Order: sequence, then C-alpha cells, then structure tokens
Amino acid sequence: MAKIIVEGNGPLNGKIKISGAKNAALPLICAGLLTADPFTLTNVPDLRDINTLLDLLKSFGAQTSFKDSTVKIDAKDITSTTAEYDLVSQMRASVLVLGPLVARFGKARVSLPGGCAIGSRPVDLHLSGLEALGAKIDLHEGYIEATAEDGLKGAHITFPKVSVGATENIMMAAVLAKGQTILSNAAREPEIVDLGECLKAMGAKIKGLGDDTIIIEGVDELHGCEHAVVADRIEAGTYMIAAAMTGGNVTITHCRPDHLDALITPMKLAGIMIETTADTINVERPKGQKIQAVDIMTEPYPGFPTDLQAQFMAMLTLSEGAGMVTETIFENRFMHVPELARMGAHINVHQASALVRGTDKLKGAQVMATDLRASVSLVLAGLVAEGKTHVNRIYHLERGYENLVDKLSACGAKLKRVND
Ligand code: EPZ
Repeated sequence: MAKIIVEGNGPLNGKIKISGAKNAALPLICAGLLTADPFTLTNVPDLRDINTLLDLLKSFGAQTSFKDSTVKIDAKDITSTTAEYDLVSQMRASVLVLGPLVARFGKARVSLPGGCAIGSRPVDLHLSGLEALGAKIDLHEGYIEATAEDGLKGAHITFPKVSVGATENIMMAAVLAKGQTILSNAAREPEIVDLGECLKAMGAKIKGLGDDTIIIEGVDELHGCEHAVVADRIEAGTYMIAAAMTGGNVTITHCRPDHLDALITPMKLAGIMIETTADTINVERPKGQKIQAVDIMTEPYPGFPTDLQAQFMAMLTLSEGAGMVTETIFENRFMHVPELARMGAHINVHQASALVRGTDKLKGAQVMATDLRASVSLVLAGLVAEGKTHVNRIYHLERGYENLVDKLSACGAKLKRVND
C-alpha cells in the first residue's frame, strides 16, 4: 500500500498551476458517447479515475487515447452497451454513461454503483429522470437495464433534491430526446455549465446553464467537437487552504476565482489575505496573523462546496476560537475527524455538525485516508504538524489530485510518496 510521509516544514511560498477539473472531465468523457464523430478534450487531468472511465468506453468498443492532457474519443463503432460491475465498482461516476447510451443506442446495462465511504449515494434520481424521458428501467442482478426502443421523449422533470450527477445524466439523455425537456431544481455547479457548453458545441440546444432551470430542445444527432476542461475549483481551494494553514504566500494560477466565492468569503473572515485576477488567486497569511475561527455549512453551488469541507476543517483546527462545520450534502463525511484528532485536533461531532476548537499546534502521527477529500485534509494537517505524518492508503488521493507531491514540494513542502 502506498503512503505519503509529510513533515511540517514552515510556510508554503511560490506558484501552483491548477489542472482541469476531475468532476468536469468525467461527465465530459461520457458525452463523447453521444456522437459518431471524433471528439477531443484538452486540459484533462492525468488521474486514475479518468483512465478507469476511458477503459470503460473501450469496453463498449470506442477508440480512445490520452496523451499530454488530451483525450481523443471515437465512438463510431460501439459494440456493447454494458458497463460491467468490475469497472463501475471502481468508480461510481461510471453511472454517467447511462444517459448517453440510452439516448444514442436506445439501451444500456450498467452495474448499480455501490455506496462509498461518504454515504449510500443512491442513483434513484438518475433513474426516475430517465423514466420521465420514456426509458423503461429494470433492476436485475445488481444491474440497471434501461431501454427506450422508440427513443426518448422530452419531459418536465423536477428534481426533489439537487443532484450534480443526476442533472448531468439527464442533460446528456435529453439532448437527443424528441421535443423539449425542462429540468427544474437542476444543479448549478460550474462542472454542469462546462458539460452544457461542450454539448452546445456538439450541436445541442440548451438554455439556462448555471441556473436551477435548464431548458433543452432535443436534436436528431450531435457532431464532434474539441473542448477544454474547466479548471478544478476544488483543487484550487485545497491549495488556497494549504497556503493559509502554513502561513505562506502562494499564487494559484490557471484557475477560476469566480467559482470560489463561497470559499474566499469565509477565508477572508478568518483573516487570510486574498487577491484575485481573472485566472489567479494570491493567498497570504502574514507572520503572526492567527487564523480566526468561522462557521461554514456545505450547500449545493454556489454555496460552500462539500468537497472542500474536510480541508477547511483542517484549517479550523489551528484557529483562534471555535468554528462550526455543518455537512448538509452527505450523511457520512466526517471520517477525517478521528484522524485529525490523532494529530491533536479538538473536534466534537454532533450529527451533521462538528465543533472545531482551535489549538496551537498539531503533532505528526500515523493516519488513515478514507476518501479523496479526507485524504488531502490529512496531508494539509501534516504540512503544519510537528514531526512526521504518515498518510496511509493514498490511492484515494491519487484519484483526484494530479501531481500533488510535486506541486506542494515546489512551494517548499517536505513530503514524499513511498510504497509500503
Ligand atoms: C458529485 O457527486 C461529485 N462527483 C462529488 O465529488 C461531489 O461531492 C457531489 O457531486 C456534490 O457536489 C463527481 O462529480 C464525479 P450528488 P454526485 O448527486 O453527483 C444524493 C469528490 O470528492 N443523491 O450531487 O454523486 C446523494 O446521496 C466527489 O470529487 C440521491 O439521493 O453527488 C447526496 O446526498 C465526492 N439520489 C446528494 O444527493 C440520487 O439519485 C448530492 O449528490 C443522486 C444523489
């Protein structure tokens, strides 16, 4: 099992270049199934999840290549529309092939994704949305069997709760459905907008991207396109917090500050100096300036992102005072708490809220990573802890952060990846 050994080594100073967003690249790769034309994505991060999804497309008969941050997909000759358990179980975002396969081929057989560490993560909203578009859905031996022999028909779908994945899946189905589809209570994340812009470049007719109501006029077919993946706001936010925790001065480049207002506001309230341009964010915590405790509550975009909750909590462990962290999106996303406690953090969890009482210092320890964002919060804690922190089971980490060790080391961090 691989692990990362981090040694507290003072402030981070320098520049960090942000990669393309994992959570945009995954649905965008699935969109490549919607056309028989060559389809190209640039600014794609080199992550395990991306390669897993490309393997899944290859299993359908698509030709794919991935080199120098560029993915090329040719889904002209699809010979299978079955997504096997062994691939889907590795990465739940594989369920996003459902909409495109049913829309273009009228059928799909996709393994039900299991739950994961942060929650049961059902896909009922994906399935009910497809049924509203006229698909027949059966669950058989752990597989979703979706068919639409006469094609899909537009409908007015109101999501009972905001779901990023369900919005993406249904959007990709509706673009080839007959007639108009209205999605109400749709997710508004930048990754949804990025997917929608790509679909429009393929010839789809979509209005309302970034709003909670999306209107789609179905078309008969989509052509290929070349699309650059939007910058990863969660990666950018992670490194902003790293700079604040270590008391350094870091410039984040190739990012979208306009996607991070929900993080910038509480960080400024915490006493962190933040300056932005169109595509850079400078983060500085001057020597002697303590981090002030603030409360955060995760919400769908444009609220505070659940994917930055663990990282922000790691910062609060060093704050002056006490901050309340409330997680409203997932039912089990505090697994970093006992691991941070092993490093000396004072955190009291009560149902969906965690009260973080700041302390002067953390101490290095052996800690265990449980999910992608919990993993990185432990690396951040290790950057400021006294002594060495061994973050074990980092395969989660490498699913979501391209070149994390190099990017942090270039700013003065002392960390290395070792195989046990
Ligand atoms: C996406 O997951 C992201 N993953 C997650 O990032 C992110 O945390 C999440 O959106 C929320 O922003 C990708 O984009 C690949 P949801 P997704 O559907 O689409 C419930 C990371 O660390 N729900 O918006 O699965 C669900 O259980 C990952 O990069 C249903 O009940 O999230 C959750 O409580 C983690 N039924 C809530 O909705 C459904 O059919 C929001 O989930 C679907 C979801």
